[in-house]
Amino acid sequence: MPETNRTYLLSKRPEGKPDRDTFELTEEEVPQPGPGEALVRTLYLSVDPYMRDRMNAGESYAEPWAVGDPLRGGVVGEVVESNGAGFEPGDVVTGNLQWADYATAAGTDLHQVDPDLAPVSTALGVLGMPGRTAYFGTREVADVSAGDTFVVTGAAGAVGSVAGQIAKLSGARVVGFAGSDEKVAFLEDDLGFDAGINYKATDDYAAALDEAAPNGVDAYYDNVGGEITDAVFTRLNVDARVAVCGQISLYNAEEIPTGPRKLPALIESRATVEGFLVQDFMPRFEEATRKLAEWVASGDVTYRETVTEGLENAPDAFLGLFEGENVGKQLVKVGERDA
Ligand SMILES: NC(=O)c1ccc[n+]([C@@H]2O[C@H](COP(=O)([O-])OP(=O)(O)OC[C@H]3O[C@@H](n4cnc5c(N)ncnc54)[C@H](OP(=O)(O)O)[C@@H]3O)[C@@H](O)[C@H]2O)c1
Repeated sequence: MPETNRTYLLSKRPEGKPDRDTFELTEEEVPQPGPGEALVRTLYLSVDPYMRDRMNAGESYAEPWAVGDPLRGGVVGEVVESNGAGFEPGDVVTGNLQWADYATAAGTDLHQVDPDLAPVSTALGVLGMPGRTAYFGTREVADVSAGDTFVVTGAAGAVGSVAGQIAKLSGARVVGFAGSDEKVAFLEDDLGFDAGINYKATDDYAAALDEAAPNGVDAYYDNVGGEITDAVFTRLNVDARVAVCGQISLYNAEEIPTGPRKLPALIESRATVEGFLVQDFMPRFEEATRKLAEWVASGDVTYRETVTEGLENAPDAFLGLFEGENVGKQLVKVGERDA
C-alpha cells in the first residue's frame, strides 16, 4: 500500500462558473481507521451537479463545504482494513467519502455493494442515487401513466436517461431535451425515446415541442430549468404534473433571473409543480434499487457511463457536467479492485 494519500480540497468559493483553481490537490499520509471505522480504497467517485451548490457559502438544502475542506461525494471503494467496522478486507462498499485515494469512514456510514449484481460502478449511477432519483421523480412526483406525454430535460444524463426509460416502461410517449445530435441519437436509438430535441440547435423550444409532443405535455421532469422550462409550461395539458428535480442551467448564475414569468400558463392547465429531493423517499430506497436492478438485468433499462481516469482529473469531470461532456453517469475511476 502506498504511504501517501491524495485528497482534493475546496480551495476557494467560485463566483459564477468554477474552474481548476477552485480545487487543490494535497498529499498526506494514508489515514488510520479509528474504532468502528474502515479504511476504504477508492475505486470510483461520483461527480454531481448538486456539488456546485455546496461550494457556495449561502443556505442550501445541503451543508456548504468550508474552504479548505476535502470535497466529498458518492464513492465506491474496497475495504482495505476494518477496525470493528463490520466489514472484511476486500468488501466493496459505497458511502459519502472524500475525493481521495483512501478515506476512513464509520462502518455505519458504509453500505455493502454486491459485485455479482452489476458492475460496482452502477452503485453510483443507475443503481445508486441518480437511478433512485429518476425512479421516485418519474413515478411518484411526475406520476406518469400510460398514454401520457412525458418530457424530460437533461435527458441524456444520469438521472434523465433513466427517468425517460421508466416513463417509457409506464406506457408514456417520451420526449427528451439534450445538448447534441449524438445525444439525441442515443435517446432515440439506444433508449427508445419517441423523440429527442437538440436544444442547442434551436431557439424556438415551443415550436420544437409542438412537433415532438403534438398532444401537449402531461408530465414534465425538469432537470434544467430556464428557457426550456418556460417553453414547456406553455404546452402543459390540464392536470399536468411538473417534477422539479434540478435546475442546472442556473447553478452557475450569480443572480437567478426573474423573468419572463410563465406562471399564467399554470392557471389554464391547473398543473401541479412540485420540487423534491431524493432523500424524501429514503424509507423506500431498497424498493427502488431492487426494481432498477431487475430492469437492468432484463434489459428494460439500459445505462451509459462516462468514465474519466485518475483522481487528478476529477475537477475536469465535474466541470464537464456544466458543458454537457458526459453521456449518462459521469464517474471518475481512481483505482482497480484487487484481483
Ligand atoms: N432533486 C434531487 O434529489 C436530485 C438528485 C440528483 C440530481 N438532481 C438534479 O438532476 C439534474 C441532473 O443530474 P445528473 O446527476 O443526472 O447530471 P447529468 O444530467 O448526468 O449531467 C448534467 C447534464 O446537464 C446538462 N446541462 C448542463 N448545463 C446545462 C444548461 N445550461 N442547460 C441545459 N442543460 C445543461 C448537460 O447535458 P446537455 O448536453 O444535454 O446540455 C449535462 O450533461 C441536475 O440538475 C441535478 O442537480 C436532483
